[in-house]
Amino acid sequence: MERRTFVGQGVALAGAATVFSPRPALAAFGGAAEVTVPSSKLKELTRWPRYGASEKQALHSLIDEGTFYGELPSFEKEWKDYTKSPHVKAHMNGSSALTSMYFALDLPAGSEIMVPSYTFFSTCLAMRFFSYVPIFVDIDPKTACFDLDDAKKKLTPRTKAVVAMHSWGLPCELDKIAGWCKEKGLILLEDAAHSHGASMQGRSTGTWGAMGIFSFQASKVMPTVEGGMGMYQTREYFERAAAFGHYEDPVKFPKESPVRAYEGTGFGQKYRMHPFAAAIGRVQLRGLDAINAVAAGNVRRLNDRVCQLPGLFEPRVRADQKRVYYNGNMLFLDTAKAGFNRDQLVRALKAEGVAVSFWDYPEQHKLKIYSEAKWFHHAPTIPDKMPGNAHVNANHIFLPALYGEAGELLDQYAKAFEKVWARKTEVSKL
Ligand SMILES: Cc1ncc(COP(=O)(O)O)c(C=O)c1O
Repeated sequence: MERRTFVGQGVALAGAATVFSPRPALAAFGGAAEVTVPSSKLKELTRWPRYGASEKQALHSLIDEGTFYGELPSFEKEWKDYTKSPHVKAHMNGSSALTSMYFALDLPAGSEIMVPSYTFFSTCLAMRFFSYVPIFVDIDPKTACFDLDDAKKKLTPRTKAVVAMHSWGLPCELDKIAGWCKEKGLILLEDAAHSHGASMQGRSTGTWGAMGIFSFQASKVMPTVEGGMGMYQTREYFERAAAFGHYEDPVKFPKESPVRAYEGTGFGQKYRMHPFAAAIGRVQLRGLDAINAVAAGNVRRLNDRVCQLPGLFEPRVRADQKRVYYNGNMLFLDTAKAGFNRDQLVRALKAEGVAVSFWDYPEQHKLKIYSEAKWFHHAPTIPDKMPGNAHVNANHIFLPALYGEAGELLDQYAKAFEKVWARKTEVSKL
């Protein structure tokens, strides 16, 4: 018998007698994999976007009728009602919604805006077009969201606004961030690209900030393949953001609107959402809460069990927060408590058949464009270190979000985790 196989069978000493432990061998060392549910089942459970007869019907109707643009105000109205936002505007994607938001801000050139470095590029870069400069803020390693303590250290007299990004569907601590912004006279903005259906204290993400955005890109919690929505608390912001890339909007605004005169041109962009996307969005919105509930139910079923294991924990969610799951079920590993590191865990779980992965968000501050002063009003400060980003990137795993009855698979996943933890010494050698 090879040493590995022997070890894997779990010989244990009980007093003087040698007994065979019932603990099964790790699949990484030749034992049987815990997950036997066929991959076709996993494929169906993780299929995304989930479009069906209703989306097809909506698109067919548009094509048959040959009228398209009415979808846009209908989608806006429905999204506005759902989020209880005073004003919204559909844009062609989240990035164009961000660009419009920064245009609407209308701050002096050189104003600094706090943004997480742990985000998609357009959160930070769309501001460049209006001569704003990003201040890179770290994330809290317990949540992967905006680290307010770090922001407090980086405040400068030029700081005018703060962007909270709700990583992977978990709302930032918006009450605390909003409170600090109020105290310091900063404008709170939100990048809610990941958090459709999430809320804090019953208030939707995207409505806490003076402005915010959602993305409906294909991977997102509410996908329309491409699409975005701007969220505005005041009519002034709404009109300015809408006028930027929607040349037909200004005429709809009151006579006294400062952007009314820009009918026919807007401010040089054309950011209209594709009506097919709006049609899909309307159908998706009807099922949003239900699909979020299915995904969250599956997360609970697994996490309530596996997060009993030492060193494995979920991002912290406050009782007054409702989170959703974008890109899967993110878990954090405390290497010291678990006895092995993230890479070893991933190897062990993969061998057991668990669809585990990790994905390091490219840290914005490390990317070339931010190091070149010529692209900015003044050179952004590149932080020496971002311990929160580094920690989250090195110590997280993602398990797939599952959008259907997944009891058997989750039970097998939980058994795979428990087996791995029961054999931590072997895992630490993988
Ligand atoms: C945090 C965040 N902000 C903004 C965006 C931009 O959205 P879009 O891809 O629709 O332009 C994304 C998209 O991936 C994102 O993840």
